[in-house]
This record gives sequence, C-alpha cells and structure tokens, in this order.
Amino acid sequence: MNEDCDSPLPPPAAARSDSTAGSDVQCAAPPRAAPAGDGEELIEATGLTKRFGERLILDGVSLRVRSGETVALIGPSGGGKSTLLRCLNGLHGWEQGSVRVGPYRLESTGNVRPNGQAAQQVRRLLGMVFQDFQLFPHLTVLANICEAPRRVLGLSRQEAEERAWTLLDRVGMKERATAYPDVLSGGQKQRVAIARALAMQPRGLLCDEITSALDPELKHEVLEVVQDLRRDGMALVVVTHEMGFARRAADRVVVLADGRLIEDGPPQQVFEQPASPRTRQFLSRVLA
Ligand SMILES: Nc1ncnc2c1ncn2[C@@H]1O[C@H](COP(=O)(O)OP(=O)(O)OP(=O)(O)O)[C@@H](O)[C@H]1O
Ligand SMILES: [Mg+2]
Repeated sequence: MNEDCDSPLPPPAAARSDSTAGSDVQCAAPPRAAPAGDGEELIEATGLTKRFGERLILDGVSLRVRSGETVALIGPSGGGKSTLLRCLNGLHGWEQGSVRVGPYRLESTGNVRPNGQAAQQVRRLLGMVFQDFQLFPHLTVLANICEAPRRVLGLSRQEAEERAWTLLDRVGMKERATAYPDVLSGGQKQRVAIARALAMQPRGLLCDEITSALDPELKHEVLEVVQDLRRDGMALVVVTHEMGFARRAADRVVVLADGRLIEDGPPQQVFEQPASPRTRQFLSRVLA
C-alpha cells in the first residue's frame, strides 16, 4: 500500500518517488484526524515483537508517549532499548505489532526496514540522536544542520541557514558554526547533532545513550539541552544509563529487560518501589 496517509503535513520531497520495493509497511487510516498536540499521544507502539534470526529481541512491547512528555528508557545491556527506538521511527521492521506516530501508522511483517512514505513521514516526526553523533565529517557545523532541511524539506539556502543559526544559538554553538566536526569536543558534537535533528522540526526526539561517550561535565551540558526541549512540548524518549537524569528529568521511567517492558511509572515509583524483582536487581547493580 504505502500511500501517503491523510496527512496534515505536506509530503517531503524525498518521499516523492522513492521505491517502495522491499517495504513491508502499511499506512493505515489515521486513528485521529488532528495531529497530536500538546499532551496528546504522539507515539503508540502496540505489541511489538521482533526477532534477529532465532533470537527474540522484543517480546510484545507496548509503549505510549505523549507530546510534552519525557520518558527515560532504562534497562540492562542487550535488553532491546536501541532496537525499540529504531522500530519506533521505522529504522527496523518487526514481526508482530504496530507503531503509530501522529497520524501515520506502520505495520510490518518482517525484518525489512520500512521504506514507504508513511515511514518517511514517521522519521520526519521523530528525530533521532545517537551516542556517536553521526555528523557528516566533510561538512561544517552549519552545513551539517542545513543539509536535511534543504534536501528533504526543500528549504532555500537562506531559510535553512536562518533556521540553523537559531538552533545553534539555542544549543550554545553559534561561535563554532564554521568549524568541522573533528575539531569539536564530544559535548559540542552532540549539541550540534541535537540541533541537526531539531532542524527538521520533529514532534519528538529519540535519544540513544547520547551522553555515554562524554565525560561528566560534557554530559551535563548535553542533558541540559535535552531538558530544555521539554518547553517545546516535544515527546522525548531518552535511552540512558544516567539514573540521576532519569530520576530528575523524566516524567516516566520505563524499564526494558530481556525484550519485555517490565516497569512503567513515575521516577519515584520506579526507583523506590519497583514492581518487578528484575527491576530491583537492575537498579541495585547500576546504583551500587
Ligand atoms: N542488527 C542486529 N543484528 C542482530 N542482532 C542484533 C542487532 N542489533 C541488536 N541485536 C541484538 O539484539 C539484542 C538487543 O540489542 P539492543 O542494542 O537493542 O540492546 P540495548 O538494550 O540497546 O543494549 P545496550 O544498553 O548495551 O545499548 C542484543 O542481544 C543484540 O546483540
Ligand atoms: Mg543500546
């Protein structure tokens, strides 16, 4: 199927004629006519089951995230956190279950990466930031941020640069606009990576251990930028090993272990009165 959904957003230029071959994602009728606004559910994953080969990685995971909500996704290494994030924005396929982001619904029947227009719209609505920044090394900071808005959204150079300067100001990187990534510190690179994701004006941001490669002071500056995004009403899903951040900054903490979502609640409840013995075991190790 892979047709554009009844969308409130214009289709991106990049979505116009990309092959849908290999795509196993379907765009079903949007469950609500209006785009998700403040406090409305932006992300809804239902019963996601995913395997890599014979191994069951996600075992019926359901997760809902509202606009304006910060969800910390924590859990033991190998538990499926990164895999879940990649399913949420259609970078991985899955065997069972579905993902809805705003009005776009993705269904997948296997491991093929979703590639239809609905998947492209989902990736626009949900930005992603990675542990290793993934900046383009041959482009300046400014050009890194302008690249996707120009290429995918069709912005003029001037429009893209105006947007980029505003975002660089926001993440405190205006002075380094002409620098190349290799001369930046890790924290600076990560702030540029966040600005680059925001340049697509997503409604949500998926952050996968974005401070893991940074020393404590730089972690702090990046996490401050993330916290600041809450005032935009964005939906944030933050995979983190920073328990202090999860406790302090998240509205909800979700624990994923062995492919199952075993805990979902306010930070105080999850950290002080976890329902699952597995959560208790995990927390006792990471907080020791
Ligand atoms: N592309 C892949 N092919 C095969 N197996 C994979 C692939 N990506 C992840 N896995 C496996 O899926 C499981 C979950 O991995 P995932 O990266 O989602 O865990 P995680 O919770 O993010 O762990 P960490 O905290 O260490 O980052 C692991 O056993 C991993 O080896
Ligand atoms: Mg991971």
